[in-house]
Amino acid sequence: MKLTMRLALTTLCLSGALLTGIVLATTYARDGWSKDERETLASLRLSQLPPTPADPSNRVETMPQAIALGKRLFFDSRLSSNGKVSCASCHDPKQQFQDGKPVGQGVGTGIRRTMQVVGAGHSPFLFWDGRKDSLWAQAVGPLEDAAEHGGNRLAYARLMQQQYRSDYEAIFGALPDLKRLPADASPVGTPAQQAAWQALDKATQDDVSRVLANIGKAIAAYEKTLHFGEARLDRYIDGVLANDRQADQLLTPAEKNGLRLFIGAGRCVTCHNGPLLTDQHFHNTGIAPHGPLPQRLGRRSGVAKVIVDEFSCLGRFSDAKPEDCGELRFLATDGPTLDGAFKTPSLRNVALRPPYMHAGQIATLTDVVRHYRAAPAAQVGKSELEPAKLSEQDIQDIAAFLGTLSGPIVERAARQPGL
Ligand code: HEC
Ligand code: HEC
Repeated sequence: MKLTMRLALTTLCLSGALLTGIVLATTYARDGWSKDERETLASLRLSQLPPTPADPSNRVETMPQAIALGKRLFFDSRLSSNGKVSCASCHDPKQQFQDGKPVGQGVGTGIRRTMQVVGAGHSPFLFWDGRKDSLWAQAVGPLEDAAEHGGNRLAYARLMQQQYRSDYEAIFGALPDLKRLPADASPVGTPAQQAAWQALDKATQDDVSRVLANIGKAIAAYEKTLHFGEARLDRYIDGVLANDRQADQLLTPAEKNGLRLFIGAGRCVTCHNGPLLTDQHFHNTGIAPHGPLPQRLGRRSGVAKVIVDEFSCLGRFSDAKPEDCGELRFLATDGPTLDGAFKTPSLRNVALRPPYMHAGQIATLTDVVRHYRAAPAAQVGKSELEPAKLSEQDIQDIAAFLGTLSGPIVERAARQPGL
């Protein structure tokens, strides 16, 4: 009704020469926001993001020396079996700390797409299937993964001794004596490395594993300094809430329509909500599975792994008290919703980092939105999606809207309010 009145008024007041403009404007029904919509919009602003939660399992995470050491380690390709792969090979700062590839490419080829590092400190569970419960526990994964860094924990302990001794010891205390130990050994490496590992006594194994955990803790401290900066959407919403007509220009009519659908008929905010546009949960959205079983099970296999992970919050290398490990202790370990479920990614800077989904199955944002319109049945488990009633124009508009979430990435010390 509002629209009809406005149309009638404008037709009365304006000359014929402007009619084309009016017709265009009516494609996008209205430009005001309801009270409920304003509330949702307000909740999406980056300024509403709480400080990155403290990780009680990592006592060095705010220590400047640990941040500095972690940054050097993140970019150091000596932390790999062929001397060519660092975390930054796949998490490239010039590419949104990702690599633009469908699946990660390290010493070998992985089965999943490289994830964002920025904002990851807000996730209680890491990886597409959440098989790690902290940033530091996550970091030790790729170091020993055959397809990523391909290294082993004894070789890493030696590297710390040879290249980083004083920095390491200033933070974590004395490195263990490695003199009489073999060059390579790991419980998850090649058969020869595993045999060498089994030959070590338990105390030595623990000493060496602790060095790996500490490498992870330093890297995690660095990762926690990486934050998203404000995007055009944040400035637009601030303007809307302040009733600033000028700020209204910050989004095109198409982007505004996309935003309206994103928080309305498209039902995107059910999962992509809050300032990072993620609920930090795992959902089955019927994306075609990739890779072998049991990984195709997504969250179901992630849960099985995280509860037995030696580097978890409840493990012996954690600095937390058991009562600080609520996320792990109260984890839902069963239920049909775990099958084929993957982590909801943050949509901040999403337009800058194609391809999309857990194995880069979808190339463009428009095709991502088409997937939501179609809501295909899942091949593993059951999809939570219902087909969304979206026109082709709506799809284009939602994709355009996602572009308004692009902003800078900034590096600054962790735990400041609103950052
Ligand atoms: C070969 C490429 C590659 C290398 C090298 C690599 N990563 Fe990753 N990273 C990935 C892939 C692929 C995923 C998702 C894997 C999965 O879910 O199974 C990932 C996931 C992550 C995540 C999870 C983010 C989240 O929100 O859950 C973090 C954090 C991360 N990597 C940090 C690191 C660090 C730190 C290093 C170095 C120690 C590293 N990565 C080395 C490819 C790589
Ligand atoms: C039921 C929860 C849910 C709903 C509803 C939902 N998403 Fe997602 N979204 C996810 C999950 C989970 C993934 C990752 C899925 C995967 O890779 O298997 C994802 C991935 C994405 C990605 C890819 C991001 C990346 O980095 O790979 C985009 C873009 C996206 N969603 C946009 C939307 C839009 C737009 C809507 C509304 C039309 C929407 N989502 C509705 C949960 C949801």
